[in-house]
Amino acid sequence: MAKQSDVAVIGAGAAGMMCAAVAAQRGKRVVLLDHAARLAEKIRISGGGRCNFTNLHAGPQHFLSENPHFCKSALSRYTAQDFLALVKKHRIGYHEKHKGQLFCNDSAEQIIQMLKDECAAGGVEWRMPCKVAGVERQVDGRFLLQTDSGDIEAASVVVATGGLSIPKIGATDFGHRIARQFDLKLVEPRPALVPLTFDEAEWKPFVPLAGIALEVDVETGSFKGRNPTGGRFREDLLFTHRGLSGPAILQISSFWQPGTPIVINLLPEMDLAQTLIEGKGSIKKQLGNVLSQWLPARLAEGLLLAHGFALDARLADMPDAQLRRLGQAINQWTLVPNGSEGYRKAEVTRGGVDTRELSQQTMMATKVPGLYFVGETVDVTGWLGGYNFQWAWASGVAAGQAV
Ligand code: FDA
Repeated sequence: MAKQSDVAVIGAGAAGMMCAAVAAQRGKRVVLLDHAARLAEKIRISGGGRCNFTNLHAGPQHFLSENPHFCKSALSRYTAQDFLALVKKHRIGYHEKHKGQLFCNDSAEQIIQMLKDECAAGGVEWRMPCKVAGVERQVDGRFLLQTDSGDIEAASVVVATGGLSIPKIGATDFGHRIARQFDLKLVEPRPALVPLTFDEAEWKPFVPLAGIALEVDVETGSFKGRNPTGGRFREDLLFTHRGLSGPAILQISSFWQPGTPIVINLLPEMDLAQTLIEGKGSIKKQLGNVLSQWLPARLAEGLLLAHGFALDARLADMPDAQLRRLGQAINQWTLVPNGSEGYRKAEVTRGGVDTRELSQQTMMATKVPGLYFVGETVDVTGWLGGYNFQWAWASGVAAGQAV
């Protein structure tokens, strides 16, 4: 005999727990299932263990999707301030770090405990660890879930199994498989908020720079037309052994299209060529020392050598054309990544269930009444900075209120 329920939520991560809590507190009988042995690992490791749980400025402009308008409804009905009110209600200390990003003072565990408490307040029934072998829609419109802890029959199923990033802590393509099973379109998934890599031979001159970090401007894509695809950020960049990382690169990776360049301005506050040409008469130092005034010395040296300039060249002896070439190399360093570090290192997955298949008010699949998708399974991807959790909360609440 199958267990009878109003709602089965599959995936007890950020969106799933939020959705289960909201539905249960409305009086629905909710079963929440997860295949992992440890609860909400992604929340636990997020924000360096302190969970950047939202962003005060979160708005639709901070999300990527084939259908950029889709996220507006849910985000406007459950805002960063709404989540913050919950955090305050649970007396969790927090602080703003950078550009509206809110973090726990102590530990991400507090957010997990808060969501567990909210689920408990509604009487959510947990099944964990629990594997779901299949989801079927019966002739009466109810869903039958076959699990390794018995069958469950529910009027609504919410798929909250997240994206593909970090498979070693339990990420699966379950959400995408369910979408395909019910004939719903997917936007091709790919790793996002991820370090970028370069051809080994091309990157060789920059390997010794690993560990250097500095603030840069970075951009990629096109800003023309009615639907610009480009991204532009001023954030910190980090050199790694295989390529580039740091917030600047994670942000731009979500916009980057394979085969296209990224352009980095390593001295965003200065027109280097102009400064050097104007200073030719007065600056007596060697080129390496000149550049080290503005860039970390190891980086200045590494870049000069990589671009074929002698460290001991005297500014006064250098033709303007050479100084312009150097200026271009620093102010508009143009590189074509050969790929990324992949789902192993990606913070999120771009793409997922095509939003044109879902109601923006409820997250329900319009052609499969009773079937909902929330959080990262959906083709809505936030920038770095607390936006992805805000989407998980907002889409979880939207479905939780509708089931
Ligand atoms: P989430 O991944 O949270 O939950 C999915 C759940 O489904 C998991 O519990 C999983 O075990 C379960 N599941 C998967 N497959 C299943 C199956 N087949 N059967 C049953 N259960 C299954 N975002 C942000 O806003 N601020 C931040 O600070 C960070 N930091 C951060 C750090 C790192 C290292 C990563 C990898 C990611 C972040 N993120 C982030 C992104 C954020 O963690 C992510 O966007 C949300 O957790 C997505 O919430 P979901 O509920 O959709 O998925």
